Amino acid sequence: MAFRLATGLSLLAASALAQTVDDPRTTLTGSTISISQLPTRTAAQSFPSGFTLGTGLGEIPDLESSMAVSNATISSGNGTGTATQTTNTVTFLTGTAQTTTTLSGNFSTSTSTSPTATVTNTQPCNNYPEFCSRKYSNITEVACHNSPFITPNNVAANQQFDVTYQLNDGVRLLQAQMQFPDGSDVPHFCHTSCSILDAGPITDWLSTVTAWVAAHPYDVVTILLGNGNYSPASKYVPYIEQSGILKYVYTPPHAPMYLDDWPTLGEMILQGKRVVMWMDYEANQGTYPWLFDEFPQMSETPFDPTNQSFPCNIQRPPDLPTHDVQNRLYLMNHNLNIELSLLGTSMPVPARGELNVTNSAEGVGSLGGSVDGCIDLWGRPPNFLNVDYYNYGTPPGSVFEVAARMNNVTYNRPCCGPDVKSGASAVVTRVSSIAACVAAVIAGVCLL
Ligand SMILES: *[C@@H]1O[C@H](CO)[C@@H](O)[C@H](O)[C@H]1NC(C)=O
Ligand SMILES: *[C@@H]1O[C@H](CO)[C@@H](O)[C@H](O)[C@H]1NC(C)=O
Ligand SMILES: *[C@@H]1O[C@H](CO)[C@@H](O)[C@H](O)[C@H]1NC(C)=O
Ligand SMILES: *[C@@H]1O[C@H](CO)[C@@H](O)[C@H](O)[C@H]1NC(C)=O
Ligand SMILES: *[C@@H]1O[C@H](CO)[C@@H](O)[C@H](O)[C@H]1NC(C)=O
Ligand SMILES: *[C@@H]1O[C@H](CO)[C@@H](O)[C@H](O)[C@H]1NC(C)=O
Ligand SMILES: *[C@@H]1O[C@H](CO)[C@@H](O)[C@H](O)[C@H]1NC(C)=O
Repeated sequence: MAFRLATGLSLLAASALAQTVDDPRTTLTGSTISISQLPTRTAAQSFPSGFTLGTGLGEIPDLESSMAVSNATISSGNGTGTATQTTNTVTFLTGTAQTTTTLSGNFSTSTSTSPTATVTNTQPCNNYPEFCSRKYSNITEVACHNSPFITPNNVAANQQFDVTYQLNDGVRLLQAQMQFPDGSDVPHFCHTSCSILDAGPITDWLSTVTAWVAAHPYDVVTILLGNGNYSPASKYVPYIEQSGILKYVYTPPHAPMYLDDWPTLGEMILQGKRVVMWMDYEANQGTYPWLFDEFPQMSETPFDPTNQSFPCNIQRPPDLPTHDVQNRLYLMNHNLNIELSLLGTSMPVPARGELNVTNSAEGVGSLGGSVDGCIDLWGRPPNFLNVDYYNYGTPPGSVFEVAARMNNVTYNRPCCGPDVKSGASAVVTRVSSIAACVAAVIAGVCLL
């Protein structure tokens, strides 16, 4: 396949000369930058204190007091999106009650009294009513590998459509690598180096996500931040906070969180805690309880694969015993890459010519085929299917079809991007009153 060298990339040589190399994986020799990627660093990984890998996974000491600290520092905004009355009420249950209440798509209610009535939820959570009562850990979602990297005609780009379209179309995990531009303390989303592809400050992108989350009160969105140069979490937290997203972040009751520990989507929605934020390295969850430390709680298949066989072995964390793989979330990297070498810099870029195969629902090298391989190996499908150019496939939308098959639901939304009217659920903004209402519905009283 032929690659057109993008403007951004051909500028690399020039900007390389001026760059101060402060990323430990990056070395500068003469005019050549060499970047070693994460897969070469799997042997010795460190985790924040409080976690030890292996069978005796520890607790974070003193989590209660650290939660209190972070509560004091982050809960300064308005309570929009937080339902104060809910006390973990499981809402979307079917059962007998004195009152029939049908929660329709826009949460209008129709009520009638009958001795053998049932309560039925028709409100989708993450696009499917079935998901409302399902645990976060028991759902397979499509994930965008390098979500912010949409620069047109840049070979390093991983997606065509921006994050708003990604979410509208049904993607529910957004992943991206953070780096610091040369000489700056402001974190940006950058691909390998900010001189190759700089998608701008993380605060900007996170603000866009926050706006989407605010407008979609029945959706739970996961963000996986790549700590590109292993900086302390404190270097990023103020910029995350500025986006306003902390109002919606889910804070776990304890860490680590294993499969059975997770709440249902309905519970998270009722509480208005609908953003689950992860970081791969140096998350320091003891200090920032809402910033999930990835590898003690979620594992990953090989990163940036370059071979269509897509084995489902767990690469990170390394040497994880089988029963530990099976009791935590896992993410499958299903994006086919080729190594691009230019002026001594080697980086993985999407194998675009293969996308219709890579993203399809069945066949050799396909997403569907790989998921089946994962089920054979681990007994259940991955939680997240991390793909490039999610809108490609055979036919377009096949990545969502694969996830739907795993979830026992039917994918029947159109795919994808600006030419397609969003299939996302109706926008309702009165989250607090709605959540309170849903809780009240159980008691048969609901006034909107
Ligand atoms: C966090 O703040 C809320 C609202 O101010 C308060 O009700 C709650 O008790 C606080 N939690 C902790 C652990 O301090
Ligand atoms: C809370 O919301 C009200 C009304 O929307 C607004 O006037 C006030 O400034 C907000 N407070 C904070 C801390 O954002
Ligand atoms: C909400 O649902 C009710 C009852 O189904 C319907 O009459 C109304 O038009 C809906 N409103 C919107 C904005 O969809
Ligand atoms: C959800 O749980 C069901 C029943 O145990 C299981 O068959 C399914 O594979 C699980 N899905 C995921 C994504 O964990
Ligand atoms: C891809 O992986 C398969 C199975 O491990 C192996 O047989 C094959 O040689 C690999 N292909 C390349 C090009 O590395
Ligand atoms: C993918 O595209 C290539 C090149 O256009 C074509 O040869 C191949 O048949 C396509 N595969 C599928 C599954 O559509
Ligand atoms: C999906 O359906 C199959 C067959 O009906 C069933 O065995 C499986 O448990 C279902 N899985 C979930 C997650 O409901």
